[in-house]
Amino acid sequence: MRPAELDLARHTVWLESETDFAGWRDAARRLALNEIRPEDIGWRVADGSDPPRDILPDGPHGAQLVVPREFIGRAETAFCHRDPGRFAFLYRMLWRLRAEPKLLAIASDADTRRLETMEKAVRRDSHKMHAFVRFRKIGDGADERYVAWFEPDHFIVERNADFFVRRFTGMRWTILTPHASADWDGERLAIGPGANKEDAPAEDDTETLWRTYFENIFNPARLKVKAMQKEMPKKYWRNLPEASLIPDLIAGADKAAIAMIARMPTTPAPHHAKVQAKHWLKRELPEAGDDKAANTIPELREAAKGCRRCPLWRDATQTVFGEGPAGAKVIFVGEQPGDQEDIAGKPFVGPAGKVFDGILDEAGVDRQKVYVTNAVKHFKFEPRGKRRIHSKPNAGEVQACRWWIDQEFALIKPELAVALGATAALSLLGKAIPVTKMRGQVIEREDGLRVFITIHPSFILRIQEPVEKEAERERFLRDMREVRRLMAA
Ligand code: URA
Repeated sequence: MRPAELDLARHTVWLESETDFAGWRDAARRLALNEIRPEDIGWRVADGSDPPRDILPDGPHGAQLVVPREFIGRAETAFCHRDPGRFAFLYRMLWRLRAEPKLLAIASDADTRRLETMEKAVRRDSHKMHAFVRFRKIGDGADERYVAWFEPDHFIVERNADFFVRRFTGMRWTILTPHASADWDGERLAIGPGANKEDAPAEDDTETLWRTYFENIFNPARLKVKAMQKEMPKKYWRNLPEASLIPDLIAGADKAAIAMIARMPTTPAPHHAKVQAKHWLKRELPEAGDDKAANTIPELREAAKGCRRCPLWRDATQTVFGEGPAGAKVIFVGEQPGDQEDIAGKPFVGPAGKVFDGILDEAGVDRQKVYVTNAVKHFKFEPRGKRRIHSKPNAGEVQACRWWIDQEFALIKPELAVALGATAALSLLGKAIPVTKMRGQVIEREDGLRVFITIHPSFILRIQEPVEKEAERERFLRDMREVRRLMAA
């Protein structure tokens, strides 16, 4: 039933939920095709019950609505903003775009600016969610699962659930927020209604573990209180077990820095030998040079588990293959997996991956829609005590691994490749490239593939000087925005 105060001459669109972008998009298309003006539409969200079915006319036969593709992606992001006026605002933009197709490029336009501000807020909120969700363990054995409570500013749970599936595939977890919850049972993702903070467990073993973990990874030598406070706004502190340690860690920074230098941080994964046995020793291994081309990415990934094309397989835990949709328009290529990627079996999940994810988010590039891989698929390192120190792959190792990367490209057929650093550029272009000089440029290969050159995100991690680090981060963000533009073009 329509609320009585609504003017019945207006069209009222009922969306199923605050995040019903598909419903908005369908309604907006039909309304625009029927020339229904923004001011004649009321947008409502049904609160749980089935929304009243508004009979929206289909457009005139054969009529097509043409709006820039870029708008749909940007509108989908802005749609997660908590602004209740967003449905009407986005329809107004769509309405204007029909007559002003270049509107999105007019930075001085108030609507364009508003869209950008909304997108930024949603991306920043997503970034915070990635960084500050903390799981607490409940149950043991077969009942073990992890629950987190988080309070985002915007409606971002649905949008970010896949990120947590990728990061915590092996755990059963639930993220509760006031607006919606996400539940992963190891195989299936379910989005449910909002919850109360009291529904999430407060204190337990995991909290202690988190504290230990945080104390260990906390690097007092690099402590920058302002930056930390900026990255970890007080609002989130109350849900972070490690927040109670911050004052002590700040106070003891110098002593801790000296102690840390003497400490040996990483050891090979305890399950290293087990994973090796599973992947190599029990498999029928293809002889080097004998691998058959695969027909799909999963087949190729399976074949790569037994790769012995160069000696790096001996010491690594496992092959770290590329990840992402088989129809991705863009492939990002890094150098080689690092310590954490070697253990997780996934590319870009360690410190460089976190920098990469944060900047992609900020640039509006959805990592779930792109394919991410490495020029070399095994971790190359020098053992130093219990540590495994990253060692740059040589040209022979890069060449040996081209077998895999060439097939990834042949199967995915992307429109664009992004070379993250010199090793990736060498792999993609077959020659050494001065990356810092050529960053931001697109080189077209003989086979027509466009390769965008930029630095590796670990370069930002290595810079100690704060101003320089921030400037480099900005430059990389600019590069990623350009990648987004090229993806949309
Ligand atoms: N650096 C890379 O180049 N690739 C990864 O997967 C991680 C770090």
